Amino acid sequence: MRGAPRNNTLIYPHPIDLTMIQSPRGTRDFLPDEMERRRFYEGVLRQTAKRAGFREVQTPIFEEAELFVLKSGPNILNELYAFKDKGGRDLALRPEMTAPAIRSFVNSMSNDPKPVKMFYFGQCFRYERPQSGRYREFFQFGAEIVGAATPQTDAEAVATALEMVKALGLKGYRARIGHIGVLRRRLAEAGVPPDRAPEVLQRLDKRLYDEALSLMEAAGASQEGAESAIGVARVSGGIEALDGIAGEEPGYLRQVLGYLAAMGVDPPEIDLGIVRGLDYYTGMVFEIEAPALGAEKQICGGGSYALSELFGGEPVFSTGFAIGFDRALLALEKEGAPFQGERVDAYVVAVSEDMRARAFEVVGMLRRNGVSADVDLADRKMAKAMKHASAVGSRYAVIVGAEEMASGSVTLRDMSSGEQRLVKVEGLPAAILGH
Ligand code: HAM
Repeated sequence: MRGAPRNNTLIYPHPIDLTMIQSPRGTRDFLPDEMERRRFYEGVLRQTAKRAGFREVQTPIFEEAELFVLKSGPNILNELYAFKDKGGRDLALRPEMTAPAIRSFVNSMSNDPKPVKMFYFGQCFRYERPQSGRYREFFQFGAEIVGAATPQTDAEAVATALEMVKALGLKGYRARIGHIGVLRRRLAEAGVPPDRAPEVLQRLDKRLYDEALSLMEAAGASQEGAESAIGVARVSGGIEALDGIAGEEPGYLRQVLGYLAAMGVDPPEIDLGIVRGLDYYTGMVFEIEAPALGAEKQICGGGSYALSELFGGEPVFSTGFAIGFDRALLALEKEGAPFQGERVDAYVVAVSEDMRARAFEVVGMLRRNGVSADVDLADRKMAKAMKHASAVGSRYAVIVGAEEMASGSVTLRDMSSGEQRLVKVEGLPAAILGH
């Protein structure tokens, strides 16, 4: 029958009780107070990114699954929300936005002047075990600098990330910087074949040294080589921690720290054990944590990588980072950072039934003049409408009465002090906005 439900339409045998349906595990609804707070801090991050010369991009929420299979590593793959669409394509909700950003660069930006500096904000999806600070749908604010492989580029990425965390107003945070090249080389020198390195690095990332040691030995590493690799993974401290580490990486990191100092950025601690959860990093790596968050304390992670050649582009070196927006906000909450939500400037109340249309005239005029204004929509009597004005936190009530209107005036009531005065209708916007 034409118009009949197709066989993929969900048909429920009984009416569903909507009160029983919750948001899916690991996801959240953001109610108006929280949403205002989120938009405010998103704005702070956006401004900070723009001030450093980054420009915003937006990529799709889902991508070809292959994009994430290529180089994200086993952690991400196990957590991927992957599915087939009706055309049989393998798709996945994005678990992060670096691979999409680089895909977009390879598709459409590769002829732009380099380096391309882009930032993004949006939700990511990982099938993780939800807990405080760990969600299945979460938000990242990230930035990528594509097409440069200098210590200056790495310094710029770290400086921007730290600047963002500072701009949010977060006080208790700790930044660490390392270089994945050191560990990768140690593993190779110890005799760990390249295809076995990711699993070892994954253990080192979680600081599971004993497990890493057994894995290295099982992969054919000498005990001495394996122990030396673990020794490197434990190197941390001030810049002097780099003394005595062989290779060109320590010199490179010193340069990065030099540029950070030149920009007036507090130096991150050295930590050669930083591995990161994703497989694509090749050079400098860094993390920022907010210890007050406990188990899920990492609020930002990043580093340099070369992803573009995987997507059919020239090898292009890039550096970037992503701030875990939800965690950063949780950390601010833990620090008791005050946030005052926005409220309407004015709530317009009609004194009597015959003044309702006039109240609508006033509210329309206020909005056209840049005043945020609301009006009673529920046929409330004046006393109830005034109560409502107070309940929604309006700064002023504008009381529209027949007598005052006869002389082109209304009563303006300051809701916090209770003061009232007569104001000409045309003077209302200035009276409310204070100019
Ligand atoms: P990532 O470390 O996997 O790196 O994620 C970045 C941040 O996202 C983490 O530091 C954390 O704050 C937050 N995050 C991760 N998973 C969750 C979750 N399940 N719930 C809440 N927050 C979470 C990346 O995604 C890389 N793309 C960063 C990057 C950009 N590297 C180079 N450019």
